[in-house]
Amino acid sequence: MTDEIPASQISHAPLAGVIGMPIAHSRSPRVHGHWLKRYGLAGHYVPIPVMPEHLAEVLRVLPRAGFVGANVTIPHKEAVLTLADTVTDRAALIGAANTLIFRADGKIHADNTDGYGFIANLRQSAPDWRPEAGPAAVIGAGGAARAVVASLLDSGVKELRITNRTRLRAEQIKAEFGARLVVYDWAQAGNMLEGATTVVNATSLGMDGKQPLRVPLDALSPDALVTDLVYTPLMTPLLTEAQARGCRVVDGLGMLLHQAAPGFERWFGHRPEVDDEIRRVVLE
Ligand code: ATR
Repeated sequence: MTDEIPASQISHAPLAGVIGMPIAHSRSPRVHGHWLKRYGLAGHYVPIPVMPEHLAEVLRVLPRAGFVGANVTIPHKEAVLTLADTVTDRAALIGAANTLIFRADGKIHADNTDGYGFIANLRQSAPDWRPEAGPAAVIGAGGAARAVVASLLDSGVKELRITNRTRLRAEQIKAEFGARLVVYDWAQAGNMLEGATTVVNATSLGMDGKQPLRVPLDALSPDALVTDLVYTPLMTPLLTEAQARGCRVVDGLGMLLHQAAPGFERWFGHRPEVDDEIRRVVLE
């Protein structure tokens, strides 16, 4: 038996989805569903609940069932790297993938578009933002932070300061990403902001139902751009306080939307626009 999928089987409307567990609250089906409708494209995008012990089996089957690719979310973003046939350099560096492409020969290609989404959101919301203008300060050292660090370094940040409650995870990122990183103790997070021109919350703190991020902002310059990966609420306590200090703030919803665009284009053949309309749809 060959893994080649006959052309006759891929002539129907392409299928894609998001693989995770739990998956019911994912906003991706709404985003992709809206774009499909808006651009009049044939295709379907569905939530795919998968337990970790079934991931390998599901990934083998999906390409044979009409799927052209998938997004991947918690808890599978790391595991898919070992199951994919090819992995982009950035996904390997980040240690996680969020976008899979099932090729016609049945092979699975894994990429990570979170960093792209992060930068695209800043470029769109703050066109005059200059990553090289000064140090960047990243709070958090989980999977999302790794994508942010990779993309900021790629964008030309010369000094990247990082802090995390569990210091070891920040040290690990420095060990992997190199000399431009400086690790700060969690208790020194406030000092880390001094002179920073880009500040990012990449922890889950500030999300509805969680504690706010408590970092003293006294040292924060009003010239800094402050962004939060949390987008529920859109204006987190950090963004509200930074804005009151005169900083430019960018919410995290755009990152969610921009990271979805490359997958949509690959699967359905049209580059979708990230605009107010799709923001409204996802917030409904
Ligand atoms: P993600 O993929 O969204 O980044 P993650 O890998 O679980 O998820 O990372 C969550 C981040 O939020 C981490 O930086 C985590 O800090 P630890 O590494 O110390 O766990 C941070 N975080 C979550 N809850 C926190 C809390 N109550 N106080 C401080 N940091 C917290």
